[in-house]
Amino acid sequence: MINLIRGFKDILPDEVALWQHIETTAIDLFQSFGYHEIRLPIMEKTELFARSIGEDTDIVEKEMYTFPDRKGDLLTLRPEATASVVRSYIQHKMYAVDPARKFYLIGPMFRRERPQKGRYRQFYQIDVEAFGIASPYVDVQMIFMLHTLLDRLGVKETRAHINTLGDPECRPAYREALLGFLNGVQAQLCADCKRRKDRNPLRVLDCKVPTCRAAVAEAPSLMDYLCDTCRVHFDTVCRTLDELEVPYIHDKRMVRGLDYYTRTTFELQTDALGAQSAVAGGGRYDGLVEALGGPPTPGIGFAIGFDRLVEVVAQGRTAAPQPLDLFIAALGERAQHHAFGWLSALGRDGVSVEMDYAGRSLKSQMKRADRLSAAHVLIVGDAELDKGAAVLRNMSTKEQSEIALDNLPETLRQQLS
Ligand code: HAM
Repeated sequence: MINLIRGFKDILPDEVALWQHIETTAIDLFQSFGYHEIRLPIMEKTELFARSIGEDTDIVEKEMYTFPDRKGDLLTLRPEATASVVRSYIQHKMYAVDPARKFYLIGPMFRRERPQKGRYRQFYQIDVEAFGIASPYVDVQMIFMLHTLLDRLGVKETRAHINTLGDPECRPAYREALLGFLNGVQAQLCADCKRRKDRNPLRVLDCKVPTCRAAVAEAPSLMDYLCDTCRVHFDTVCRTLDELEVPYIHDKRMVRGLDYYTRTTFELQTDALGAQSAVAGGGRYDGLVEALGGPPTPGIGFAIGFDRLVEVVAQGRTAAPQPLDLFIAALGERAQHHAFGWLSALGRDGVSVEMDYAGRSLKSQMKRADRLSAAHVLIVGDAELDKGAAVLRNMSTKEQSEIALDNLPETLRQQLS
């Protein structure tokens, strides 16, 4: 037997209903706020991710599925969507007419992390990006949409953590201060952090190793180094969230695992998933479009971990079976032949319908109808065909009625709708 790859998983039909429910709820919401769907390849040139996510990040250093194609070009299965959306925005000159463009993208991402609950090597993201809007209101809109989506999905146990990472004006001074501090506690840092700190000291704040966490507990805070523009931007975000009654925590230690962020960053966290607490994460990336060869264009976005959101929403819910409008219990070959014609006509017209193809007994067909949660069962055998009328049973009230076989699909369609 050939099994699936470690860290990958199948999403079976019983689970798909919930995925579809979440997806339509999200799409509905994003469209109300003017976001449009974009679909992009799952593979890109490796360089795109290395340059945008950052060479010193865990994702680029250890987690990407990268391989040379037959000509030797390095290709990577996308570990996230932002870099690809930015690439597409630039490549198709979407900034030309109106730089303010808003997108959402849903699809698989790939990271070679250690698999555990809530962490997979192929996982799905619901990604949202907005370009060309520097206003802090769009930062608020991102967090507001996340908050509203969770609310619509009936999830109560999440909190928004927000922070600011400053910008190229104020971050360098902070970087120096942090590096000075880290040099002082160097002995307590893990090997990765010792190596990374000179090139990217902020990464150390993101390290999950307990000794590193303890070592940076007293590190200087970026809040003390923010320039006026960044401070006003962040204050406006906080004040507007208050006005919209979106609860949040200012999490001064949160730096996020990707290098492209500037100013506002945010995560939606939950205790419901054990160690993998982030259901969604995002932030502003005002320098990224330009860094990848486009005109200076602000950008901001977030991605929801779709698998994690499904797990959170599923907790406390029992999987509801996909209901079936009608099961046709056909007894005998002649009845089966007619049943198949009716089934085809009804299915074409949008009635969900199933039948038995194996000539089982009425009892076993009724059992199957029950298992499929059929709302009605049409019972037809030779006697019914001769008589020109079949029996329609309502499975919840147990009432039975006769139904003429002439124009049967049309009568059923009206009766069942
Ligand atoms: P990220 O924080 O790396 O951000 O990922 C976003 C979300 O994807 C996480 O909060 C988590 O729910 C989910 N996720 C990440 N890795 C895994 C995994 N191995 N298994 C299951 N779920 C996972 C980004 O990807 C940014 N591109 C977000 C963004 C969009 N920033 C701006 N625009």
